[in-house]
Amino acid sequence: MENKTPRKVNIFLILFTIVFMCATVYLGYQNYQLNQAKLLLETELVNTKQDFASTTEKLMGDIAAFRDLLLATQAERVNAEQDVRKQQEVLDAMSNTLGSYERLANTDRELLAKYSRVYFLNENYSPKHSVTIPPSYTYNGDGEKMILSEVWPFLQKMIDDASTTNIDLKVASAFRSFDTQSKLKSAYTVSYGSGSNRFSADQGYSEHQLGTTVDFTTLKIGSNFSTFEKTASYTWLTENAYKYGFILSYPKKNAYYIFEPWHWRFVGKALALKLHTENKNFYDVPQRDINEYLINIFNQ
Ligand code: DAL
Repeated sequence: MENKTPRKVNIFLILFTIVFMCATVYLGYQNYQLNQAKLLLETELVNTKQDFASTTEKLMGDIAAFRDLLLATQAERVNAEQDVRKQQEVLDAMSNTLGSYERLANTDRELLAKYSRVYFLNENYSPKHSVTIPPSYTYNGDGEKMILSEVWPFLQKMIDDASTTNIDLKVASAFRSFDTQSKLKSAYTVSYGSGSNRFSADQGYSEHQLGTTVDFTTLKIGSNFSTFEKTASYTWLTENAYKYGFILSYPKKNAYYIFEPWHWRFVGKALALKLHTENKNFYDVPQRDINEYLINIFNQ
């Protein structure tokens, strides 16, 4: 009896040891599998992270490349727009130059030439287009006084504006043909002899033949031109005529004729302003400088 108990214990211990070992092996195996699975997951995670990182990097690269492309395209568009603008400017400049040449070719070069014993207009010269000055603007109301069409709006405005300040300006003489000037000069020569050369141009040398020149008087003084200098009308003209493109051709002490306060020639606003501002006489300015104003002579 005493020997049986230890034997049982031994068997139990052996069994227990076997079970324990089996359990240990089993748990060890389970642990090994878990570790393997964990290792796999970690590897996958690392791979996924790497994939993600490289995908992100690629995407960032693509975005940067796309942005560069966009910027380059925008820069190209700006350049193209600048090119188009430059080409348009060149075209505009060419068109302006062509327009200027055309305008110059169609503008009578005689209009700004010096006709006081310098240049000569032949007997066939007359203004290209002329209009009759309405009788109400003339001294004797004859309705026969003519002026270059393009000059009339300037003259009319000047007389109308003067009239609003009670300044009376009446046209006593305007366009005179070669023939008319010739007859006038002959008549003056009969009366004044060679003295007529001091106040009357020979035919072909009168600014009146251009159709841009007028002699003014007032209703009050009529043909008594020598007193025109003393009128408010003359004072008004000296202060305002340039604004309408008119200049006094023969001021005091000019080299050609006596002082003619009544005789006003249209030369265009720009040239008239220059002469007024610089206090210069038309006939003292070189013809080459004067000619530069021809192209814009009728500019408002
Ligand atoms: N009285 C000016 C000079 C002319 O006859 O044209």
